[in-house]
Amino acid sequence: MEFFVKSGSPEKQKTGCLIVGVFESRKLSAQAQQIDDISEGYISSIVRRGDMEGKFGQTLLLHSVPNTNCERVLLVGLGKEREFDASKYKKVCSKVIKMLHETGSTDAISCLALLNVKGQDLYWKVRSAVEAANDSLYLFEELKSKKSETRRPLRKITLFIESRSELTQGEQAIEHALAISSGQSLTKDLANLPGNICHPTYLAQRAEQLAQTYNNFNAHILDESELKAMGAGAFVSVSQGSDQPGKLICMEYMAGQQDEKPVVFVGKGVTFDTGGISIKPSASMDEMKFDMGGAASVFGVMKAVAEMKLPINVIGVVAAAENMPSGNASRPGDVVTSLSGQTIEILNTDAEGRLVLCDALTYIEKYDPDIVIDVATLTGAIIIALGHEASGMMSNHNGLANEIESAAEATHDRVWRMPIWDEYHQALKSNVADFTNLGGRAAGSITAACFLSKFTKKYRWAHLDIAGTAWNSGAKKGATGRPVPLLSQILLNRVNKV
Ligand code: BES
Ligand code: MN
Ligand code: ZN
Repeated sequence: MEFFVKSGSPEKQKTGCLIVGVFESRKLSAQAQQIDDISEGYISSIVRRGDMEGKFGQTLLLHSVPNTNCERVLLVGLGKEREFDASKYKKVCSKVIKMLHETGSTDAISCLALLNVKGQDLYWKVRSAVEAANDSLYLFEELKSKKSETRRPLRKITLFIESRSELTQGEQAIEHALAISSGQSLTKDLANLPGNICHPTYLAQRAEQLAQTYNNFNAHILDESELKAMGAGAFVSVSQGSDQPGKLICMEYMAGQQDEKPVVFVGKGVTFDTGGISIKPSASMDEMKFDMGGAASVFGVMKAVAEMKLPINVIGVVAAAENMPSGNASRPGDVVTSLSGQTIEILNTDAEGRLVLCDALTYIEKYDPDIVIDVATLTGAIIIALGHEASGMMSNHNGLANEIESAAEATHDRVWRMPIWDEYHQALKSNVADFTNLGGRAAGSITAACFLSKFTKKYRWAHLDIAGTAWNSGAKKGATGRPVPLLSQILLNRVNKV
């Protein structure tokens, strides 16, 4: 799909479909009014008949509207004008794209970016429209023997903007959106792939591919024997149970100043989580192929930043391992020594994410990071706490937490901060080792973050628990590509600040 921005009079354009909004109740947007004027009241007559109330999400496709050059006009309901906000705007954009695909239009002009969206500027409106379109057009068909037959004639979407002076801003917004969408699609692809295909070695190959594709991009892989020799006992305690060798995958995108400290992302890359000896129940266990969703989002943001060619230093480290029960697997009660030297009593082998992450979090000290953000499908408890809207966020630094919250707000890829107070650390007490890997039922997401915080004292750090936001279950089972928009926005905000 190609996207363009254009200024001028949308009603005079030749196009397959012109998209204009109608507010509740029956209030034409300025662009719908223009079409109404040139068509001598055709739109208002239809609205008067009761076919378009302007209710949020309602659509009506019209053909041969008098005196226009467009083959179709798509009226879309926007709901109450004073309630039209960022989230409604994005939903309308996705809805319209899906509808257009079912028409015969090969190109379309959207007037939606001309609407007033509470608190948002033109750049935001264009970027969000393009990202919403790509997000809703995504298909995962890699593993189907026959690709879907849906005729997809729609090739080109032009977003109308107020004036020529906004063109540069609009074009920049499209460029950024395409980069972020391509990162997000990579995240979805990797996360949707099953455990028998997407194992640690596969992820390592994909990292090397990115390094070959982009400038200023390096990949460096540590294999399980190196990790063992190095002393990453927590990581190895998980990967040793699998025939698939674990990998620590380091991607380095260095396009900033040489002396600029990097942003470091660390992703949980458990390519399948059976729970190990503390084995999971069978129901929905297939969804544990998504347990590398954090890693997939690190791949996604690395691709996005390289596509945008942002002048910044970013490191993406993925702790890739498979959690299996076997004769080599760790037992409940085993004590291991982490790369940091701290000892851990493994009380539950299903709390494996924190074990692979803690060694990665120690390893990345060598990059002398400015900030570190780890991304992990870490706890089922975060779904109980926050559902599927917000990712959980814990941090040891208020400035960083604020930085993440404002990027989350801007992209609507939202987070909610939770505490990691000292009192919560009690839950990890061990009688035999420095601490355990298991906090008990209460505040499970917080005690998991407390565990990680014992390895992140040397830098500014935040943890994102994405177990509730990385994928959808049920009929729409599949990866969401979150939090790639959020992570990309953090980088964009940093670049724009200097
Ligand atoms: N990958 C899971 C977390 C998870 C579970 C994500 C269900 C999404 C849905 C993680 O490795 C895990 O098993 N966590 C345990 C931790 C517990 C043993 C302390 C959990 O959440 O039950
Ligand atoms: Mn687990
Ligand atoms: Zn897991």
